[in-house]
Amino acid sequence: SPTLPTVRKIGGRIGAVIEGVTLGPDLHPEVVATVRAALLAHKVVFFRGQDHLDDAGQLAFAEQLGTLTTAHPTVNTGSAHVLSLNATKGMAANSWHTDVTFVDRIPAISILRGVTIPPYGGNTMWASTVAAYDALTPPLRALVDHLWAVHTNEYDYVASSEDPDGDSPDRDALDRRQFRATYYETEHPVVRVHPETGERSLVLGHFVKRFVGLNSAESSALFKLLQDRVTKPENTVRWQWQPGDVAMWDNRATQHYAVADFDNHPREVRRVTLVGDVPVAIDG
Ligand code: SIN
Repeated sequence: SPTLPTVRKIGGRIGAVIEGVTLGPDLHPEVVATVRAALLAHKVVFFRGQDHLDDAGQLAFAEQLGTLTTAHPTVNTGSAHVLSLNATKGMAANSWHTDVTFVDRIPAISILRGVTIPPYGGNTMWASTVAAYDALTPPLRALVDHLWAVHTNEYDYVASSEDPDGDSPDRDALDRRQFRATYYETEHPVVRVHPETGERSLVLGHFVKRFVGLNSAESSALFKLLQDRVTKPENTVRWQWQPGDVAMWDNRATQHYAVADFDNHPREVRRVTLVGDVPVAIDG
């Protein structure tokens, strides 16, 4: 039987490093099972030193964990399954989100490869939406347990930019237009039951437009309150990239944030996502 990779926890509630595996095609099924179990347990896992990977190798690894989605529902990436997030093209994701929640079947797993990493900054943070749900007080749980939210791809990257020097609106206007060229809107339960672990988690992030049945003032106050719980530092882990690193997260149990503090240095990461299920509420 194969040498199994080792899993080293790097945060109390989220995050582990997996060592002793060379990612690519044809991994032993027990190795894949170890990686999947670590992902479910730790929500985001990191692999250093995978410099040998190209797009094909990243895809071949991903396909052993699930079915590939198209690269993005609206962005024309020039590639069937790989989304290049290139800072010099304005593709900054510096606000807390879960990937692509504005479709019915939210991707289950995302796999991100560091291609060009700036000399400083440009870390990515992840937060556990399971830990956030678990820590809610009973009255707040009672409020969100049966609540639904409307998610759309109308998210305004410029309005929400917290770094006035970081993003030039002109530079990324084209990408934003393309991102929103087709309007997507869907409703998801605020609390979902994870199809593999049975854990409950909060389904929120920057694509939430409002909560069903609440007015807009109530929606924004509640959204802020819940997002503050999700992004509480104790619920997070922060990764300092090196070229060749791979991060893989459970998109059903996390949000993430790409920190835009690398001035005008180039930064490129490439993302592959795997097909997920329609989120199931706690009452079915
Ligand atoms: C993403 O939001 O999927 C990309 C995160 C990153 O650029 O680090």
